[in-house]
Amino acid sequence: FGPVADGGSTTPTSHRRRLTKISVIGAGNVGMAIAQTILTRDMADEIALVDALPDKLRGEMLDLQHAAAFLPRVRLVSDTDMSVTRGSDLAIVTAGARQIPGETRLNLLQRNVALFRKIVPPLAEHSPEALLLIVSNPVDVLTYVAWKLSGFPASRVIGSGTNLDSSRFRFLLAEHLQVNAQDVQAYMVGEHGDSSVAIWSSMSVAGMPVLKSLRESHERFDEEALEGIRRAVVDSAYEVISLKGYTSWAIGYSVASLAASLLRDQHRIHPVSVLASGFHGIPHDHQVFLSLPARLGRAGVLGVAEMELTEEEARRLRRSAKTLWDNCHLLDL
Ligand code: NAD
Ligand code: LAC
Repeated sequence: FGPVADGGSTTPTSHRRRLTKISVIGAGNVGMAIAQTILTRDMADEIALVDALPDKLRGEMLDLQHAAAFLPRVRLVSDTDMSVTRGSDLAIVTAGARQIPGETRLNLLQRNVALFRKIVPPLAEHSPEALLLIVSNPVDVLTYVAWKLSGFPASRVIGSGTNLDSSRFRFLLAEHLQVNAQDVQAYMVGEHGDSSVAIWSSMSVAGMPVLKSLRESHERFDEEALEGIRRAVVDSAYEVISLKGYTSWAIGYSVASLAASLLRDQHRIHPVSVLASGFHGIPHDHQVFLSLPARLGRAGVLGVAEMELTEEEARRLRRSAKTLWDNCHLLDL
């Protein structure tokens, strides 16, 4: 191809569209599921991958690059050195230990805090204006750790939180009701994990409150049955891990949807892990991160929805907050 005649006019560099760069730290099952979902959704001009294993990292990068003919054009780079992330708009952290079958997320804490001490400071240094999206587990405590270690404002440090649990919740409810999960509005809040809280009181389908009509039309929908559905949501990850060893596809889609809301300034509401001090009776001096429905945009967390909770839901949320704070406040950060 030859050069295009420009008639003498040149576009000043300052008028060119700013390119969007996303970095994914940790090129394991979760990191690669996220990277490939982001690629198919055409939301980045450059994707940087970082992992501690150079061969695996290069293999993953090449494998994705070989799909170039079927995808939007994206520059893919990778390195074991964090400098490859320089100038990121969004940095997604998935590096770290994962659960073995039956193990809880909180059990990973010490190993992954040690890793975060190595990863987060250089990440923040290379991209001081970035949004940090934490996925590694236990995600709520590690979001707190990333906030402390980065020195970023809390609005730019977000945990993927119960965006995934809420999708599982909506899937199970949709199966019951035989509707599309996208028409079910239902939130899980609190810890991404064992103490998560299902918000039954505000659940709706196509704008109609569901709990009341369920109770009237199905005898099986007593309190015990509701708790059974919440339990099934919590058990989902344990079940998948016992069957295939890890979870990846659902978290890939969950994080890609968060990335789109953030980078495209969508102002969409997602249940994600945010600084929750002062909400629903959580003490102001407990700097705990847990999931509440939050409005997300290019600046990060734009606001947190003031949900109306029943007494019981608020009590469960505070209990979830206490579990998390018990794990956070002992960390020397
Ligand atoms: P994995 O073992 O497949 O991948 C982890 C990757 O981290 C590995 O490739 C490893 O080499 C890399 N790594 C280790 N140290 C590193 C370092 N210093 N720098 C860069 N990379 C490093 O594990 P996975 O299945 O991808 O899970 C990753 C994490 O995501 C786990 O903590 C898991 O529990 C968590 N997870 C969270 C959610 C969620 O909803 N928040 C969902 C699924 C998994
Ligand atoms: C999940 C991970 C294991 O899939 O936290 O819920």
